[in-house]
Amino acid sequence: MDMVTHPILIVGAGIAGLWTALKAAPHPVVLLTGSPLGDGSSTGWAQGGVAAALGPDDSAALHARDTVMAGDGLVDETAAMVLASAGASEVCALYDLGAGFERTQDGGWSLSREAAHSVARVARMKGDQAGAGILAALIKAVREADHIEIRDGWRAEALLPDQTAGCAGVLARDPEGALHPIKARQTVLATGSIGGLYAVTTTPWTSQGQAMAMAAALGAVIRDPEFVQFHPTAIDIGRDPAPLATEALRGDGAVLVDRNGHRFMPDVHELADLAPRDVVARAVHAQNLSGKGAFLDARAAIGAAFPDHFPAVFKACLSGGVDPRTDPIPVAPAAHYHMGGIETDLDGSTGVPGLWAVGECACTGVHGANRLASNSLLDGLVFGHRTATAIKRAPARATSAGDAEAPPALPDDALQSLRAAISAQAGVIRDDEGLSQLLSLIDALQAKHGSAPALIAARFLTVGALQRKESRGGHCRTDFPARQALAQPTRLRLDDISIASVKPRQAGAA
Ligand code: SIN
Repeated sequence: MDMVTHPILIVGAGIAGLWTALKAAPHPVVLLTGSPLGDGSSTGWAQGGVAAALGPDDSAALHARDTVMAGDGLVDETAAMVLASAGASEVCALYDLGAGFERTQDGGWSLSREAAHSVARVARMKGDQAGAGILAALIKAVREADHIEIRDGWRAEALLPDQTAGCAGVLARDPEGALHPIKARQTVLATGSIGGLYAVTTTPWTSQGQAMAMAAALGAVIRDPEFVQFHPTAIDIGRDPAPLATEALRGDGAVLVDRNGHRFMPDVHELADLAPRDVVARAVHAQNLSGKGAFLDARAAIGAAFPDHFPAVFKACLSGGVDPRTDPIPVAPAAHYHMGGIETDLDGSTGVPGLWAVGECACTGVHGANRLASNSLLDGLVFGHRTATAIKRAPARATSAGDAEAPPALPDDALQSLRAAISAQAGVIRDDEGLSQLLSLIDALQAKHGSAPALIAARFLTVGALQRKESRGGHCRTDFPARQALAQPTRLRLDDISIASVKPRQAGAA
């Protein structure tokens, strides 16, 4: 057991956790990563790249405006401006670290266009290699950094409370399965997504919203948990998780067609295949439901260049028996990104003393109801950097760690039934009846297995979705198809979602 109290403890090793750790220098950091460094985070699977105002036709104001527009009324505009203003310098810093973004012959940046961006703005690496390339550069830097101690295979199970109603570190399980308190003055959660709660997801299935459950237990607010982004073009070859076909393919001219080759997006939105992601996801979902099918046709736009220009997508297609040079790629929407999460300010503070959150598990409000494409890696960089700076400036805290218990684990059969129900009832299309059924299933699983973190995270998602009686961004209710005039964030604490406090469905409700 650690007798020391570490100055900074970071849980999670995707782009947000690693960048925060690097930027915390020279302060000593302990970095916990449940999977071996490089595995288990969505960052390495990201394909498109990093959105930033790098081109001559672009500006931070334009990038912020596109971010606000995509977020469908719920984006915090200050957060969007903070994100966009820091974009170019963060990409340059990553490039200087060794991330091999493509450059043009005249020293500019080779930029992709993605959905709902007014201009080409996504710094890319060999078509679909951005996430892998960035992660490799970050891991090399973290391994070389003297101030960072990496604990591979250590999984945080709960937060340690302290005497000030704050956080004093984590209870962690070591690679052999033993539990240890690890005490820290400042604890940063950077554990990523909730995609693993869905049966169809593009994220690692181990990402099940654990950070929300841990932070809520210490009193943190969970904001906008109902807002999940579904990527419209997961490759539909029955794999779990589902491989992604990056939006950059559509940026390069690939089009969505039905099984007869008819392009369906021009009938749906003026931006056609490059409409906002939530719009395209619903259209693809409707095509598949109707039996007409949805396929990404890259034959004319990319064709023989596919293996060279998009090697990861090419390999994934071949693994499912699809050759994208000659065949349209079958696609379906898959859970891809959580816009909601642990509420923080723009410096990563959760409001719980000593507890910070960054990256996908956090919610600054910057993504609103629908994240703009390729803003997620940028979010990890910008808010990770700001969080590290704020922690370095924070006054020293005296902490006295209390006890915490490891939460119960959810058996695999229960997890799989939960995942199937969440995909069916809290997916691209939702209604009161389906969400209420989902909540009943969560109640039953919780009664049987206790308050496993996946169930607590699922509860936040479902209660938020039931309470939001409108359709906005990634949240589409068939029983409430209109958008309310006033966009209001959802804010829930643990007490608001406990079994006793969840209001039963009202008789006569739609
Ligand atoms: C993609 O490459 O289509 C995904 C990028 C993102 O999630 O923003």
